[in-house]
Amino acid sequence: MTANCILERVAETRSTNDDLLERWRAGELIDPVARIAHKQTAGKGRAGRSWLANPEDSLCFSLAYPFKRTPAELSGLSLLVGLAVLSGIAQACHLNESELYDAGLRLKWPNDLLLNHGKLAGILIEGGQAKTGDITWMIIGVGVNLRNTELIEASLSNGLKAGSLAQITNSPPDIEYLWLKLVASLESHLAEFDLHGFQPLKERWMQWDAYLGEHVYISGIGKDAIFGIEKGVDDCGALLLQQENKMITVHAGDISLRIQS
Ligand code: BTN
Repeated sequence: MTANCILERVAETRSTNDDLLERWRAGELIDPVARIAHKQTAGKGRAGRSWLANPEDSLCFSLAYPFKRTPAELSGLSLLVGLAVLSGIAQACHLNESELYDAGLRLKWPNDLLLNHGKLAGILIEGGQAKTGDITWMIIGVGVNLRNTELIEASLSNGLKAGSLAQITNSPPDIEYLWLKLVASLESHLAEFDLHGFQPLKERWMQWDAYLGEHVYISGIGKDAIFGIEKGVDDCGALLLQQENKMITVHAGDISLRIQS
């Protein structure tokens, strides 16, 4: 599997997501573009957080991809991207997906990759449709930790654990090689998603669900926490939470899913 989109490499930039977002807003995107930065000086995470990464120890890139679907028809995209990243990691590490599962890799709704509860990779999706009828451009930013989790954990303000590919394999892949495998995997998953949506991949996603059957809660800026038992996702990728005698659906946004301790 090889990448077909335009490949761009830069030594340093503020954020690869912002670079491509600027181009989308200026109407300058024509073909899919993947942009990797050795170093980001203002890397962005979800919910307005920063994404801190040591250049030698992590992969940071964004892919700008055009969809025929409208933004409203893209529900489940963030889950699909998690599956695509997982599959690209398996290929780059020369492992099959069941070996990744046995090593402790899981997906946390909507799109974190966890390794034995530590964050291995983060995904930030931005973009949309400039006006009705236009192509929908989504900028998919991916950060993957390769090694040195101590350094990464020291920079995490929320006390969360980090995971890295070095915990899965003694010889983590070269950053460029990993990037090309992830871009190729994303391209094939995104093309399928544009045609068929999330539903055909729902069961596959649930096999990797980190918190299936666990007591969890959802928290978000300025909102009360929502508690329940995690029951997987629906056909659109919304999270299902069992509460007393009802099931509620939660749609992705700037919210966090946590396990009840
Ligand atoms: C998260 O909070 O989990 C999402 C992290 C996304 C980080 C990546 S690194 C490449 C791209 N550029 C950014 O500024 N952020 C994303």
